[in-house]
Amino acid sequence: MVKVDSTMTNTLTLKSPAKVNLFLRVLNKREDGYHNIASLFQALNLCDTLHFTLSDSDSLTCTDPAIPTDSKNLVIKAIDLFRAKTQKNFCVKVHIEKKIPVEAGLGGGSSNAATTLWALNELCTTNLTTEELLSMAAEIGSDVPFFLSQGTAFCSGRGELLQSMQPLPFNVKGWIVKPPYGMPTPAVYQNLDLSQLLNIDPAAILHEITTKNTLHFFNDLETSAFKLNPELSSLKESLVEQGAEGVIMCGSGSSFFSISLQSPQIRENHKVFDVEFLNRSSNQWY
Ligand code: C5P
Repeated sequence: MVKVDSTMTNTLTLKSPAKVNLFLRVLNKREDGYHNIASLFQALNLCDTLHFTLSDSDSLTCTDPAIPTDSKNLVIKAIDLFRAKTQKNFCVKVHIEKKIPVEAGLGGGSSNAATTLWALNELCTTNLTTEELLSMAAEIGSDVPFFLSQGTAFCSGRGELLQSMQPLPFNVKGWIVKPPYGMPTPAVYQNLDLSQLLNIDPAAILHEITTKNTLHFFNDLETSAFKLNPELSSLKESLVEQGAEGVIMCGSGSSFFSISLQSPQIRENHKVFDVEFLNRSSNQWY
């Protein structure tokens, strides 16, 4: 057991941000079934809030009853992995205030897992390095390491290899639209037709973004997601027809991001979230 004395902090409340892929190139399929990607990830100020308390038993609760609170939840995977790797014998209660929509391509579950690794490292005073946390994060899921960056990173491999970047040289505000249905990531990758993808060089795009301050939005997963659910395609069309700028699907869907300031007209059951880019300083959480 981690002994909790009166001088030791045993509670922590942390924000857990969503992400958007400003561009996402799928390069090829690997022998392990994953795809190599090249993607510019950006954290957003659309955040869940996670409350952690060291305690004498584990528990996970969430404001959204649709979220599993068993071992399917990446927070549980993060706790189990942290315990196994550090050999620390602690118990923790976690409560999630859910704001990030699920199956939306916004990385909510991955973000919650990364936030849990950061919190446990603080609460258990294990002093693990960022590299050690990143290696645990990659075991939990492809998108988890990004959330240990400072908010902007170029990610490759299956998404887990980070090249951390300075905050982008523009202060971007925009919105996310989430339709009432979600998209399952494995199906979107499986349904990809790699022969149909444009051969855009991600390094050139990244260079333009950082040197010329121009954002390029594209997502190689859109065509596959649109084939699986044509409603997504008509949603994008209607957003573009309304004059929305830079509309891209987030990750494997089902939400869309746009840098437009004017909120879109949307159908019943769709949700709109106003968002801004979010970055943090090196030794502080979001
Ligand atoms: O890593 P994660 O568990 O989040 O991935 C979920 C699924 O998405 C994988 O099992 C795989 O089918 C697909 N995937 C992929 N290539 C990636 C990331 C995810 O094919 N780069």
